[in-house]
Amino acid sequence: MKITTRHAKTHQNIPSSKHHTMSSHHFFPCLLFLLLLSLHHSLSLAKRCHPDDEDALLRIKAHFNNATAFSTWTPQTACCRKWNMVMCKRLPNTKIFRVNFLEISGEEGISGVIPSAVGDLPYLETLIFRLLPNLTGPIPPAIGKLTQLGLLFLNWNDLTGPIPPFLSRLTNLSTLGLNNNRLTGRIPSYLGRLPNLGALWLYQNQLTGPIPASFGYLQNGTVLQLYDNQLSGPIPTSLGRVSFGILDIAGNQLTGDASFLFGEDKQQLNHLNLSRNKLSFNLTNTVMSGIELEAELLVLDLSHNMIYGQLPTWLGHASIVYQFNVSYNQLCGPIPTEGGALQKFDASAFSHNKCLCGAPLPPCTATHTRVPRDGQAGCWGQSKLVKVRFITSMR
Ligand SMILES: *[C@@H]1O[C@H](CO)[C@@H](O)[C@H](O)[C@H]1NC(C)=O
Ligand SMILES: *[C@@H]1O[C@H](CO)[C@@H](O)[C@H](O)[C@H]1NC(C)=O
Ligand SMILES: *[C@@H]1O[C@H](CO)[C@@H](O)[C@H](O)[C@H]1NC(C)=O
Ligand SMILES: *[C@@H]1O[C@H](CO)[C@@H](O)[C@H](O)[C@H]1NC(C)=O
Ligand SMILES: *[C@@H]1O[C@H](CO)[C@@H](O)[C@H](O)[C@H]1NC(C)=O
Ligand SMILES: *[C@@H]1O[C@H](CO)[C@@H](O)[C@H](O)[C@H]1NC(C)=O
Ligand SMILES: *[C@@H]1O[C@H](CO)[C@@H](O)[C@H](O)[C@H]1NC(C)=O
Repeated sequence: MKITTRHAKTHQNIPSSKHHTMSSHHFFPCLLFLLLLSLHHSLSLAKRCHPDDEDALLRIKAHFNNATAFSTWTPQTACCRKWNMVMCKRLPNTKIFRVNFLEISGEEGISGVIPSAVGDLPYLETLIFRLLPNLTGPIPPAIGKLTQLGLLFLNWNDLTGPIPPFLSRLTNLSTLGLNNNRLTGRIPSYLGRLPNLGALWLYQNQLTGPIPASFGYLQNGTVLQLYDNQLSGPIPTSLGRVSFGILDIAGNQLTGDASFLFGEDKQQLNHLNLSRNKLSFNLTNTVMSGIELEAELLVLDLSHNMIYGQLPTWLGHASIVYQFNVSYNQLCGPIPTEGGALQKFDASAFSHNKCLCGAPLPPCTATHTRVPRDGQAGCWGQSKLVKVRFITSMR
C-alpha cells in the first residue's frame, strides 16, 4: 500500500558536481548565494497552490458548508503547505506543484454526497473519504476522471447505489476500499482486470450476485475481502489460478465446491475465511503448500458450511495454522494429531460436525475400525456396532 506522498524535493537542483565547481574559494560564496536563492525560489513555489487545485478544493469546502474540518483552507494560505488533509507533489521536470493527496477521514460535520469538485483535482493519486457516517448517495461520476489514482478509499461511510462502471477507467488503482457502506448490485467484472490492483475491500455492503470469474486474473498476493455481503452462486473455479494473500469471502450465500482454493501452489495464502456460506465439498484430498515455505497459513475458518470428508493431515502442522475453525460442518473421522497444531484449539473449533473425534474432542472409539456402511449410525465413535467391535478388538 502506498499512502505515502512524495513531498517536494526543493534541493533537487543542486549540482552533483559541486566538489569540482567549489574548488575556487572566490567562487564559493557566490555559488552558495545562488544556491540559496534558487532554494528560496523553489520553496516559495512549493508554497504556491495551483489555482485550479485551489478552486476545486474551495468548492469542496463550500459543498460541505465550510465545516470546521476545512478551517485551514483559506485563499490567504498555500494549499500545498498549510491546508490540512491535502498534500502536493512536484510534477516531474517542472516547478509546478499539484495536489496529489486528499484525505477526509473521521471529521465531524461532513454530510451530503461526495462533491463532484473532486473530479477537478486531476493529479490526485490518493483519495480518501472515510469514517464519515453522514456521507451519503452514490459514488459520483467525477471520480472516474481521476485516472492517476493509485489508492481510493471510500469506506466506513453511508454510500449507496452500485459499484459504478466508470471506476474501470482508474487503471492505476492498486488499492480500492469501498467496504462498510450500503452498496448494492453486482460486483462488476472489470475489477478483476484492473492491472495494478493488489487489494480490493468490498466487505460489509449489500452486494448481490456471483463473484466475477474475472477475479481469476487478479495478481498473486492479492488481498480480496468480500465478506458479509449477499453474494451467491458457486465460487468461480478461475479463482483457483490465483495465489491470494488474503481471501475472505465469508458471510455470503456461496454454494458448491471450494476445494480448488487449496493447493500446493497457494504459497502466499495466509488468511482464508470461507465461514458462513453454503459450501459443500470433500475436504479429504485438499492440500496446501508445505510448512517449509516462507508464507504461512495463519487463519483458516471454514465454519458454518456443509463441508464433508475428513480433516487432511497437512492441517496438523503447527506453523501453518494460527486461527482455525471447522465447526458446524459435516466432517468425520479423527482429528489429525501429527504436527500437533490442531490440538492447540479448543473443542469449539471442531464442534457440530457429523463425527469428528480425537483430541480436543473425545477420543475416537474405533479408530482402526471400518466405518459401517449401513444406517445413520455410520459415524466414528457413535455407532454401537463400532464400539462393540472396538471393545472386542481390545481384548
Ligand atoms: C463558506 O465560505 C465562503 C467564503 O468565505 C462564503 O462565501 C460562503 O457563504 C460560506 N458558506 C457557508 C454555507 O457558510
Ligand atoms: C451526522 O448527522 C447527525 C444528524 O444531523 C448528527 O447528529 C451527527 O453529529 C453527525 N455525525 C457526524 C460525524 O458529523
Ligand atoms: C501509476 O502509479 C505509479 C506508481 O505510483 C506511477 O509511477 C505512475 O506514474 C502511475 N501511472 C499513471 C498512468 O498514473
Ligand atoms: C470469518 O468470517 C466470519 C463471518 O464474517 C466471522 O464471523 C469470523 O470471525 C471470521 N473468522 C476469522 C478467523 O476471522
Ligand atoms: C501465481 O501463482 C501461481 C501458482 O500459485 C503460478 O502458477 C503463477 O505462475 C503465478 N503467477 C504469476 C504472475 O506470478
Ligand atoms: C471424500 O474423498 C475421499 C478421498 O477421495 C473418499 O475416500 C471419501 O469417500 C469422500 N467422502 C465422501 C463423504 O464423499
Ligand atoms: C468456532 O466457531 C464457532 C461458531 O461460530 C464458535 O462458537 C467458536 O467459539 C469458534 N471456536 C474457535 C476456537 O474459534
